[in-house]
Amino acid sequence: MADGVVGVIGLGQMGSQIALLSALRGFETRVYDVAPGAAERFLRWTDSYLRDRTEKGKIEPGVADQTRSRLSAQSSVKDCAGPADFVVEAVAEDVRVKRAVFTEADRATAAAHLFTNSSTIVSSKLIDGLVHPERVCNVHFFNPALVMDLVEVVRGLHTSDATITAAMDFARSLGKTPVLLKKEVRGFAVNRVLDSIWRESLYLVENEVISVEDLDTAITKGLGHPMGPFRLMDLVGIDLVYSTQMDAYKETGDERLAPSHLLVTKIENGELGKKSGRGWYSYQQTT
Ligand code: CAA
Repeated sequence: MADGVVGVIGLGQMGSQIALLSALRGFETRVYDVAPGAAERFLRWTDSYLRDRTEKGKIEPGVADQTRSRLSAQSSVKDCAGPADFVVEAVAEDVRVKRAVFTEADRATAAAHLFTNSSTIVSSKLIDGLVHPERVCNVHFFNPALVMDLVEVVRGLHTSDATITAAMDFARSLGKTPVLLKKEVRGFAVNRVLDSIWRESLYLVENEVISVEDLDTAITKGLGHPMGPFRLMDLVGIDLVYSTQMDAYKETGDERLAPSHLLVTKIENGELGKKSGRGWYSYQQTT
């Protein structure tokens, strides 16, 4: 069992799963989200997840109680980060919002390593004005974070060796397999490869070569992926796929990298994937 204190800031899909994972693995885990009611929703979801896992015999009842007792909702970034050894930021993919969180967390804690779970914003964009930029790097989990084994640790020019070691050990203590990216690059490693798959899939559907369903079948059956690219877009959020492609377009100015019209239409229709009840497929809302 790990010991130490983790602060998780931002309780969306990723932050919620990272926080629960942290508590399951033994860390005292402090959580904070600026949105009213978000922490209560997180704790309700946690209770139902732990109940479900206990009923299925996947965890012992005692483990559920201990996990729950390690979780506490905090009322500010300062309270969340202050006593932490590790802070994981998982707020909206907006550089201004993330900078504000890092500035506050940097001031609140003398010792913590500060990790961003961002998949699109490299940590060097978040260190302006920080007292300790050397303790900052990307620690990128995959969705669903409770299940997916990989964590990408991404070194910035400002990141110290001690922080990289701490990030790799932190990932291992959560039961994950970390890989190190020695320098910052847009999309990191996995999302660069995944983006190529998404672009080709969108191209084939947009040009009426194949249906969404058949393309997903082709990739699951032909390449052995656990889910097809369209179902995966629904899982991670079509808005995230769109903003990833928009970032690539803005950075390069290359028209060919502009987001697919199919993605634009989905965004305009509010069809963001599983979280909105509809994306490429329809879903029953559970909350
Ligand atoms: N949250 C927590 N646990 C979940 C879950 C979720 N959303 N979905 C599934 N699980 C768990 C189930 O409880 C089950 O656990 P047990 O075996 O211990 O009971 C296990 O995962 C398998 O679930 P299922 O049998 O229901 O379904 P499955 O076998 O089809 O697995 C899946 C579901 C794990 C999501 C699998 O389809 C998969 O691996 N898909 C690919 C996911 C992927 O590629 N993720 C990366 C996305 S890219 C990214 O995240 C980076 C980014 O920045 C965008």
